[in-house]
Amino acid sequence: MNISELIYTDNISNYIDESNSVLIIDKKVYSLFPEFNTFKKTLLFHSSEINKSFYSINKILNFFIENKLSRNSKVYAIGGGTLLDTVGFAASIYKRGINIINVPTTLLSMADASIGGKNAINFNNTKNIIGTFYLPIQVLINLNFLNTLENKHFKSGLLEIVKISLLFSKELFNFININQLKDIRNSKIIIEKIIKEAVHYKTKLVMEDYYDVGRRKLLNYGHTIAHSIELTRKIPHGIAVGYGMLLMQKYAENYYGANPELSITLIKLISKLRIKPFIFELSEIELDLVFQDKKLSNKEIDIVFLKDYEYPIIKRVSINELRNKIKNMS
Ligand SMILES: NC(=O)c1ccc[n+]([C@@H]2O[C@H](COP(=O)([O-])OP(=O)(O)OC[C@H]3O[C@@H](n4cnc5c(N)ncnc54)[C@H](O)[C@@H]3O)[C@@H](O)[C@H]2O)c1
Repeated sequence: MNISELIYTDNISNYIDESNSVLIIDKKVYSLFPEFNTFKKTLLFHSSEINKSFYSINKILNFFIENKLSRNSKVYAIGGGTLLDTVGFAASIYKRGINIINVPTTLLSMADASIGGKNAINFNNTKNIIGTFYLPIQVLINLNFLNTLENKHFKSGLLEIVKISLLFSKELFNFININQLKDIRNSKIIIEKIIKEAVHYKTKLVMEDYYDVGRRKLLNYGHTIAHSIELTRKIPHGIAVGYGMLLMQKYAENYYGANPELSITLIKLISKLRIKPFIFELSEIELDLVFQDKKLSNKEIDIVFLKDYEYPIIKRVSINELRNKIKNMS
């Protein structure tokens, strides 16, 4: 399969071909980076989970129609994972798919969400339940966007990269772990190295299992509960994934003999990043949200945990059993 062309550049504008194209850009990014203010056909998007919705899809599709986009037009999607997921979905269904170019502006979207062609919106209180697989033709990465990113969103992106490192590269994990947050933020060399490595491992998996029926599921590590607590506790996606990995490791320690060093290291890392300690007790509402979109899947669910560093396991378990065990964990 053809994976998207990936370009690292300090000047995105040089790559934007304004003829026969439109820009959809995160509102905050638009105000912080005036270089995009000169483009005429522009739609601003307020990035929040609430706006990963059919309401936004409607707005975006109308914008495509007003601008008479044809199948060979180009859509430049400039923003974080929230925007890329939403615009990607709209682009994939307009005229059965038009060209999309992803310009990720957050750490999480550079290392993860802009790669691999998964798009989705939230529906009926369930995250990412409506979506498509549709690859961008290009991904343009400019690390300078990260200079203005709030710390909590930087940490969120870092934890998604930590997830990839725990799954595939202890060396990358150690490299992230030995550096202080401020050193990572302040060094383009360090950031570029960790993004490139994360992209490398994700791309490898995507090429192996584009439709997410096998090994790509490993990327769901930490996500079983993340989607629920992200919505209820209103925390950034990657931070919820960090908590989700911790909960899965505790579970795996208790029931599958996982190396306890993993949960200890995760607790230390979360504390070092000055992220609030995880409260293990999930409310009934949170537990309902974890399992609500899984009700029909034969009452079983695939979970991902690590037996050890770089030793991930996908296990099919009964939803009832998992729910009870999670509930009783402390
Ligand atoms: N499709 C995938 O493969 C995939 C993978 C992982 C996560 N996701 C999705 O990504 C979403 C999270 O994405 P995210 O973490 O990028 O968050 P986000 O897109 O919501 O952005 C976080 C905040 O940062 C702001 N922002 C964006 N770029 C900025 C910049 N350069 N400077 C200052 N502020 C900036 C945004 O306005 C927003 O307020 C979730 O919805 C998640 O489900 C998708």
